[in-house]
Amino acid sequence: MESCQPIALNRYLRTVLSQQEILVRYLQQQIQMYGQEMYVVPAELIVKADVRQEIPQSVEADVMPILSKASTWQSTTSLEALQQEIHTCMECPLGFTRNSFVFGSGNPHADIMVIGEAPGADEDEQGLPFVGRAGQLLTKILEAIELRRDEVYICNILKCRPPNNRKPLAMETDQCEPYLWKQIELVKPKLILALGLTAANTLLKNKESMTNLRGKIHDYQGIRTLVTYHPAALLRNPEWKKLAWEDVKFLRTLYDAS
Ligand code: URA
Repeated sequence: MESCQPIALNRYLRTVLSQQEILVRYLQQQIQMYGQEMYVVPAELIVKADVRQEIPQSVEADVMPILSKASTWQSTTSLEALQQEIHTCMECPLGFTRNSFVFGSGNPHADIMVIGEAPGADEDEQGLPFVGRAGQLLTKILEAIELRRDEVYICNILKCRPPNNRKPLAMETDQCEPYLWKQIELVKPKLILALGLTAANTLLKNKESMTNLRGKIHDYQGIRTLVTYHPAALLRNPEWKKLAWEDVKFLRTLYDAS
């Protein structure tokens, strides 16, 4: 899948998007890469190009509101505003298969941010992170260190469910991670708890094993970050719960001292 992504994705997009939507996405990318200034080829030079004949007359009216929206999420100043701006995201194919955009939940000014991998079926259904079996275990883990879910902020690397809960693809993570960066910027947590290797390796930009990552304080852009097992992994391997318990006790110690 990884090796044939670019061409497969292009073909896929052509089957599900109209010419006009492809144009909008192209212009959005240009804005993200080069900013608001665009260099337009004089009309007389492109009047014979095939694509021009397919652009509808109404294109400007349809395109401009979307283009101005594309550049506004980066400058939002609250989580609600950010969610409002990005919840209709179609930047990767998961936008076509999701039921819900799972933004995040909890205290918008939490000292602790808990970051998982991606929504599963229950989260996709309800639009909230960690509400399925793994989520119920996460709630118990937090309660064990005397934290309620609404005291921390919970979200994921990806905001949309990968089909069949497969691991996120690199291009999905690349598209979605800037939303997480913005969430972190807005919440300003003192501590981050990364749940599972996907979250940890994505945040810390490494390929270290869980054994190497646990029990250490990592630095994520100046924020102290701990890594522990994903609750779904704990459901499959209950013998790791003891280790996870040590990790969250360490988190509590750091929290109390902060
Ligand atoms: N697994 C995750 O990583 N996140 C969720 O929200 C649910 C399950």
